[in-house]
Amino acid sequence: MAELAPFHTPRPAEYAPIPKPLKRRQLKSVSLPDGPRSPLLTLQFQQDTPGFLRQARDEYGDCTSFFLGGQLFIGAFSPEMVHEVTVSKQHQFIKGVGFDRMRKVLGTGLLTNEEPIHLRHRRLMQSPFHISKISSYANTMIDLTQKHISNWKDGEVVGMGPEMMALTFDIVADILFGADISEDTQKVQRAMHVAIDRIERTMLPGLDRFDNLGLPYFRKFGSAANELHEVATRIVNERIEKGIKRDDLMGVLLEATTPDGEKLSAREVSDETLTLILSGHETTANVLTWVFSYLSQNPKYWEFLVEEADLILKQRSSEDFARILLSAPWSSAIFNEVLRLCPPVWVAPRRALEDVTLGGFEIPKGAHVLISQYVTHRDAKYFSEPDEFIPERWFNDFEKTLPRGAYFPFGAGTRKCLGDQFALLEARIIILEIASRMRLELQTAFPTAQPRATYRPKGIVPMKVNLI
Ligand code: HEM
Repeated sequence: MAELAPFHTPRPAEYAPIPKPLKRRQLKSVSLPDGPRSPLLTLQFQQDTPGFLRQARDEYGDCTSFFLGGQLFIGAFSPEMVHEVTVSKQHQFIKGVGFDRMRKVLGTGLLTNEEPIHLRHRRLMQSPFHISKISSYANTMIDLTQKHISNWKDGEVVGMGPEMMALTFDIVADILFGADISEDTQKVQRAMHVAIDRIERTMLPGLDRFDNLGLPYFRKFGSAANELHEVATRIVNERIEKGIKRDDLMGVLLEATTPDGEKLSAREVSDETLTLILSGHETTANVLTWVFSYLSQNPKYWEFLVEEADLILKQRSSEDFARILLSAPWSSAIFNEVLRLCPPVWVAPRRALEDVTLGGFEIPKGAHVLISQYVTHRDAKYFSEPDEFIPERWFNDFEKTLPRGAYFPFGAGTRKCLGDQFALLEARIIILEIASRMRLELQTAFPTAQPRATYRPKGIVPMKVNLI
């Protein structure tokens, strides 16, 4: 059993071998894009990674180089380079620093998998996330949202961060497992929290070395990963052994078959399940917490949302409900704008598998390449007043006027978010359900960010509930 636990999951042999990291001394004769070279670089990077990347772009341009832990990193920030890394040259990259560590929690699920296993699984898992299927999740999303917010009393102060985390967790867990998880909800949520917290600082190479030294901080990471693995495996095995067939997402994963009859193994279903729980709640919870923070500061938007909620939520029984919701103008514009300013996935680390050209720059094999939603989404060439919250910019098909790669909160190419439509639907529902019942008022200054693997607001973000 021990060798199967995700905390010890080795890198599958089918993956491409990871190229050796490029050390500064090997690169003396190589011409690199300009970049910061201060001896305090690692410290500056650690203290505020999004700020560091943005400043590097401002000072050195769209392609910049720097060294962390003695290894070469390239920041690739223009839309053209983002498109190359994620789409047109994606096969020349594998997922980069941080993902091996994530694999310790998620095993070989979709987020951490590499080719050729990744695409095989992706094909099997695509259909339950197709827009035609996700409408069927809307009722669960509405019911759980209503149940959750009905506990909030007029005048009460709630911690929006943990509240959104609990709500989005309940939604994804219910859609994945139905009732099977109810006994373990708290345990899984606690373990997820520890795991997410410790998949932090993901861009610094070498953190893995500490995992097996027995330090309490890292030991907790291991036991949280093993706990998650234990719950998911138990539920999957029970279903298989007892022949339980359910039409929740896990049921779909257990039954999914390729045209040539291939299915996911129990272990693979278990890893995919953990991947969907982790990637399917923290991201959405963070961005919603930012949404309500912006709404609290810009109260005029509540009125528009109330009107939209009146018009749309009553169409709940329509077969086209998902499409109606996804094209709702105000909640779409507000959500797009917050995904631009506070993208939950704010950086996507990659590793060059071979020498590759990005935006005309020669990038050597083995380089760490960072593309960053946070940096590119704040490029004044594409977004005027880039630090301001201006939802109206998204009207009149603004997104279609942007070059490819300028706005990519869900990534792109074959590694694009599997749950993008799911997240968009869920966020619209939560925003409109809340707007139709209350106003939320921040009780502190606008939250600052605590960027980890995701772009989180720091602290619990207390908000006062004013029922309407
Ligand atoms: C606002 C919410 C969300 C955002 C902004 C988001 C963003 C992203 C991004 C940027 C990636 C690509 C990462 C990379 O290229 O390195 C990704 C991958 C993924 N996301 Fe999401 N995500 C969200 C919600 C969800 C939800 C709700 C689910 C599932 C229920 C989900 C499941 C996944 C999966 C499985 C992958 C890996 C896909 C693959 O590599 O084939 N995400 N997400």
